[in-house]
Amino acid sequence: MRAKFFVFFICFVSSITTFSQSKMVKVNIDSLIGIMSIEEKVGQMTQIDLGVVAQGDICKLKNPQVIDNDKLKNAILKYHIGSILNVGCGSGTISMENWRLILGQIHAENKRSSRLNIPIVYGIDAIHGANYTMGATLFPQEIGQAATWNPSLVEKAYKITAYETRASGLPWNFSPVLDLGRQPLWSRFFETFGEDVLLSKNMAKAAIRGLEGDSVNSPYQVAACMKHFLGYSMPLSGKDRTPAWISERELREYFLPSFEEAIKQGAKTVMINSGEINGTPVHINYDLLTKLLREELGFKGVAVTDWEDIYKLVSIHHVAENKKEAVKMAILAGIDMSMTPNDFEFTTLLVELVKEGLISEERINESVRRILQLKLDLGLFTQTMFAPNQYPLFGSKQHAEVSYQVAAESMTLLKNKNHVLPLGQEKEKIFICGPAAKSLNLLNGAWTHTWQGVDTTFNTPQKFTILSAMQKNSVSVTYAPGCTVDSILDIEKCFEKAKLADKIVICLGETPSTEMPGNIDNLYLTEAQQKLVLRLSETKKPIILVCCFNRPRIIQNLESKVDGILYAYLPGDEGGRAISDVLFGIVNPSGKIPFTYPSNANAFIHYDHKGSEDLAVDFSMKAYQPQFDFGVGLSYTNFTYSEFSISNTTMQNDDSVIIKVNVTNTGKIKGQEVVQVYYHDMVASITPAVKKLLGFRKISLNPMQTTEVSFCIHKNDLSFINKELKRVTEKGEFEIIINSQKKSLYVN
Ligand code: BGC
Repeated sequence: MRAKFFVFFICFVSSITTFSQSKMVKVNIDSLIGIMSIEEKVGQMTQIDLGVVAQGDICKLKNPQVIDNDKLKNAILKYHIGSILNVGCGSGTISMENWRLILGQIHAENKRSSRLNIPIVYGIDAIHGANYTMGATLFPQEIGQAATWNPSLVEKAYKITAYETRASGLPWNFSPVLDLGRQPLWSRFFETFGEDVLLSKNMAKAAIRGLEGDSVNSPYQVAACMKHFLGYSMPLSGKDRTPAWISERELREYFLPSFEEAIKQGAKTVMINSGEINGTPVHINYDLLTKLLREELGFKGVAVTDWEDIYKLVSIHHVAENKKEAVKMAILAGIDMSMTPNDFEFTTLLVELVKEGLISEERINESVRRILQLKLDLGLFTQTMFAPNQYPLFGSKQHAEVSYQVAAESMTLLKNKNHVLPLGQEKEKIFICGPAAKSLNLLNGAWTHTWQGVDTTFNTPQKFTILSAMQKNSVSVTYAPGCTVDSILDIEKCFEKAKLADKIVICLGETPSTEMPGNIDNLYLTEAQQKLVLRLSETKKPIILVCCFNRPRIIQNLESKVDGILYAYLPGDEGGRAISDVLFGIVNPSGKIPFTYPSNANAFIHYDHKGSEDLAVDFSMKAYQPQFDFGVGLSYTNFTYSEFSISNTTMQNDDSVIIKVNVTNTGKIKGQEVVQVYYHDMVASITPAVKKLLGFRKISLNPMQTTEVSFCIHKNDLSFINKELKRVTEKGEFEIIINSQKKSLYVN
């Protein structure tokens, strides 16, 4: 038995600490690595699921989960585990007190049983708020956050997520998803910031800033995890974790920039794409995981696998004959930590590989160094948790208001024929129906209290559904469900009630789901919901659709039958209020859609496609006919654009130019507008996009107020990845486009 050694490499420095009451601990990582056994090092690289150390069977845990001390002791003593994750499969949200109890037991046992007393780092999927802690603030999912086009507001949401996650004793968040949402069928589309590179980059920055702040050592910040590196969101089939074909040029052009930005912001960790690209599973791709991520982008943090992905190299990808070979391949490609997560086989096999000389100890040391650095940065050597009274704002009204704000700013009005909206509060009789009308789950989506988000047991009481919020805003609201997402309930009753109303609000939805359970074969709206809309359209009353979808579901056959369409994304726990307030005109909508809404199930063409604007390649066949174009969204007021100018028509070498435009609110009420600048490279060595977002700014204007908005554009902003995989801006003419006005800019 080795002696307890830690006193030799830890010294206490009382003066440096700013946040904790206890003394700051200074750890010399190299000295620590110097005295660690191979088993202890490999243990640091092991992350197990909570179920492995909790009472009950792994996928049938109690709620709240209870630690099994023998199992925990075994994991620490025998396997020296460095990390634990999640709520345990089959279980759900627990209270903040319960989290703290579990974490307290883990840290206490670690202190008792481990020789070196290296803290265990706990990771969690706090995807849209601390969604595994009861009563936490739940925000809109990422796709709705992106629709706000307001990065500083989104940063506030992530800051609160960090606060409430850390309040639960959890220092590491597997968020944000930085995969680009360019495959609308994909089950995790709602977890992305949409299809545009620039918008995603800006949101990536906001998310990392919000989660990590200036120092993750703070009791109010957590380590972020950018995921899933790289190209995870673009499976060819649209089904989760199925193969992708993406050229390296396109990987760099579209999928890399948000990760690059997150690394620039200091993101501490990264999770790897479970799928394969061009025939190589990303978990064994040395070129991506080491050459690109580490050597080229300079990422210094921890690379963790996704769920059991090393074993999947054998069972799914068939690139390794057995698990031992799989472990070797993944570690040599650049993996630091294995989300095992349900057993210790990875640990045993990696120890064998090192002892047999098949993986060098130096390679192991590299990963251990990064993992220890993460723990050190998080301040875990000093203090694993902070006192609960340091978090008075957990689940507070103040936090809920920020969530409401994000939800309200995300609401995207896509159709408003004859000013059907806003509704006239007391004056109009409103009939409301549809599966999303009376469900918190359909507003929140997956990663809400449970993985798939369908269980209603853990919902936060007193949160408003769309129906209850509308009833609070008006006494003249009647309701019948009509249908669930998939089956017809009482459409005829709805028809009768709707006939008596002035206006009809139909709240369409999608069953919460993510990952493989969220796979679908096409984007059609379910038959039951189509029938509901079509039948109610026979009343000839004005209809407003409210869409709460995981991904854009086809509404082409319904669009002409309705007068208003409010796209609400998955707006979270305050979404009911936000939707109701927009419908009643208490909030003026300002969201802009962050993806191209397809008009047909297979019509996936992005706004930044190549060729001609409508993609009429031959025979005047127009291919680009989206239901709604990227970046659109109506307001209850009007904005006009004037005085569009560019400071110089020619851009020399490293010059920049200033683009200016005046925007006036010509309507009668205050409103927010997202000013968007696009560009088109007229001739380039790689087919240029018809237009690409170059800059955006969200502004607020009172009636008749005018403001000048300016953008400083550098040469690099007009760049792309060329055939040699280099980022270049080629000489020639560029069109700068604001609100369909165009001006030329020449680059020398
Ligand atoms: C998901 C990740 C998630 C992990 C841990 C995986 O199945 O792909 O996004 O962070 O599980 O829950």
